[in-house]
Amino acid sequence: MTILLTGCDGYIGWPLMLKLSKEFPDDQIIGIDNLARRKWVEEIGSASMIPIAEMEARIKKAHKLGFKNIRFIKGNLVDKEFVRTIIRITEPEVVLHLAAQPSAPYSQINLDKAYYTQENNILGTLNLLWALREEGLTNTYFIETTTTGIYGAPNLQIPEGFIEVSDKEGNKDILPFPNIASSFYHVTKGFDAVNMWLANMQTGMPCTDVRTSIVYGTDTEETMMDEKLATRFDIDFYFGTLFNRWVAMIIADHPLTVYGSGNQIKPFISLEDACQSFINIIREGNDGEYRVYNQLVEYVRIKDLAKELNNAAEEILGKSPGIDFIPNPRKEKEEAEYKFDNSKFMKVLGRPKHERMAETLNEIVDKLSKYAETINSFRDVFIKK
Ligand SMILES: NC(=O)c1ccc[n+]([C@@H]2O[C@H](COP(=O)([O-])OP(=O)(O)OC[C@H]3O[C@@H](n4cnc5c(N)ncnc54)[C@H](O)[C@@H]3O)[C@@H](O)[C@H]2O)c1
Repeated sequence: MTILLTGCDGYIGWPLMLKLSKEFPDDQIIGIDNLARRKWVEEIGSASMIPIAEMEARIKKAHKLGFKNIRFIKGNLVDKEFVRTIIRITEPEVVLHLAAQPSAPYSQINLDKAYYTQENNILGTLNLLWALREEGLTNTYFIETTTTGIYGAPNLQIPEGFIEVSDKEGNKDILPFPNIASSFYHVTKGFDAVNMWLANMQTGMPCTDVRTSIVYGTDTEETMMDEKLATRFDIDFYFGTLFNRWVAMIIADHPLTVYGSGNQIKPFISLEDACQSFINIIREGNDGEYRVYNQLVEYVRIKDLAKELNNAAEEILGKSPGIDFIPNPRKEKEEAEYKFDNSKFMKVLGRPKHERMAETLNEIVDKLSKYAETINSFRDVFIKK
């Protein structure tokens, strides 16, 4: 079997490439990336706090350590001729599509960034779906990481993809949950969801839309094998995600910044569990459905998480950074009460390795402390300038 992984140089993509290699040693794993993430982070004045090797060096080291079945091809998914050629030559049985511009605040900077994000994300997905169709590969299993952000913040229990609706006359139907996302990035993933839905409806292509939650952590079993196998770790306002950025703040003794009231509820999954779940999703297979999973293990209220981490920091380091409630730089609904249904996803994942992110703090602080000097020198990127 050939598995095509897009976004293989990314925070999730690189560890996933290694795990795919380990779990499917007799298959071919082909990674695609245009290395754009490295440039975006540099452009906004930041860097990965954990040093990452160039792609060539990563692959060389991985081959030496036994991950022999991986290959990297540099290219841009927005280039439809490139995508057609890759699909024609590799004829993948599985496409795991992770490549995207994934930052909501970056997509909100100005029209150029909103345009770039929408063009990059939507056309990349469209090119892959159409190239598979044109090459007659409609049995290829297409899996994409969209986002739980598609659901917005409704006053409802958030379902796994579909919602039952009824009209005034009592007629009922089950429909895809509407795309009520709150950034120009997030709406691209709602658009992708509809394009997957269409591809499935028109050709029967098996599509699994994995609504990824906020991913946290520094490592998977495989990235820990060697420094050259490390994945990136970002802490800045644009690309550093919640929890990862707060752990860096703890190291830098910088108050944990809570946006607005802190009443927002956010879902999370560890890097290890996120990568493992893709392996399980491939093994489970899909006979031609458009399927949705809510890829999360826990959800928490942001101000409660800040308090817990602040107290835990005191225990681990003997000092707590404090909490700073700052005006919310995002336009988002803060007060909605909602829970997530992730029951289908948990069945595929099985027992998570990390059930509570707060309990991983010690381990992550330990790993990141080695880079304390770098983190301190980048402390001005935590907050929007
Ligand atoms: N990290 C999270 O917390 C999170 C949460 C929800 C959803 N997701 C989704 O998961 C996926 C991976 O996220 P990540 O955190 O690893 O992001 P990332 O930016 O580290 O990885 C994405 C990779 O895709 C590559 N890429 C982007 N556009 C490309 C293009 N046109 N052609 C080729 N390569 C391209 C980038 O260079 C990058 O290496 C994304 O689709 C993201 O939207 C991530």
